[in-house]
Amino acid sequence: MNIKSAREIKLMKEAGAINYLAHKEIEKFIKPGVTTKQLDKILHDFIISKGGYPSCLGYEGFPGSACICINDEVVHGIPSNRKLKDGDIVKLDFTVRKAGYESDMTRTYCVGNVSERVRQMVIDTEAALLEGLKEIKPGKRIGDISHRIEEYAKKHGLSVVEELVGHGIGTKMHEAPDVPNYGEKNTGLVLKPGMTLAIEPMLNLGKKEVELLENDWTVVTKDGSPSCHFEHTIVVTEDGYEILTGE
Ligand code: MF3
Ligand code: CO
Ligand code: CO
Repeated sequence: MNIKSAREIKLMKEAGAINYLAHKEIEKFIKPGVTTKQLDKILHDFIISKGGYPSCLGYEGFPGSACICINDEVVHGIPSNRKLKDGDIVKLDFTVRKAGYESDMTRTYCVGNVSERVRQMVIDTEAALLEGLKEIKPGKRIGDISHRIEEYAKKHGLSVVEELVGHGIGTKMHEAPDVPNYGEKNTGLVLKPGMTLAIEPMLNLGKKEVELLENDWTVVTKDGSPSCHFEHTIVVTEDGYEILTGE
């Protein structure tokens, strides 16, 4: 996989900052009654106003600026006239391109009063992402990240989606290598400074199995159980990592 220069990392950080700000902005609108299409439009206009481009739009024909998934939807939810309801969880996953460089960030949000069990799952999934990030430094391997996320998820009673994985990122949204959320320690590519990765655990409250809806985009859990998703774009540094989709 390719190593990014300081200039490239700076551009990815600019894209990532817009991604982060867009998440901050959209949080205000997440309430019962809002449609996922309305959220998509707000995100689209906000990202453009900050000088970025919502690069999910048109990616392999995807019709939205953001992937918006409710409850049992795991990834690639298409914005629609569906309204958020009290007690739902909603996942906003979107990329921002700026000056030819991509960033990718996902958060799961609670809508109104969410059950204690599901709220805990949201907390545990974000923690699983942050645990995985702790493995990142030069000399460590992709499998170390994967294993740490899997271990944390299982310890907290969550199952790991296997069909969907994190990835390298740069001028393209998806670059080598894959970063699975399960695996063996001390296996896979060795991390080096300048590598840029999107780490993104997708964890289910029920079984790990997923299926594709007839729209050929949206992936849902087979058993209908809720699924959570958090994602950051990071760069491997000399002594660890830096989150590019942060403040
Ligand atoms: N952001 C997704 C990811 O985490 C990819 C979305 S592709 C799209 O890899 F076409 F659905 F937008
Ligand atoms: Co994403
Ligand atoms: Co991603």
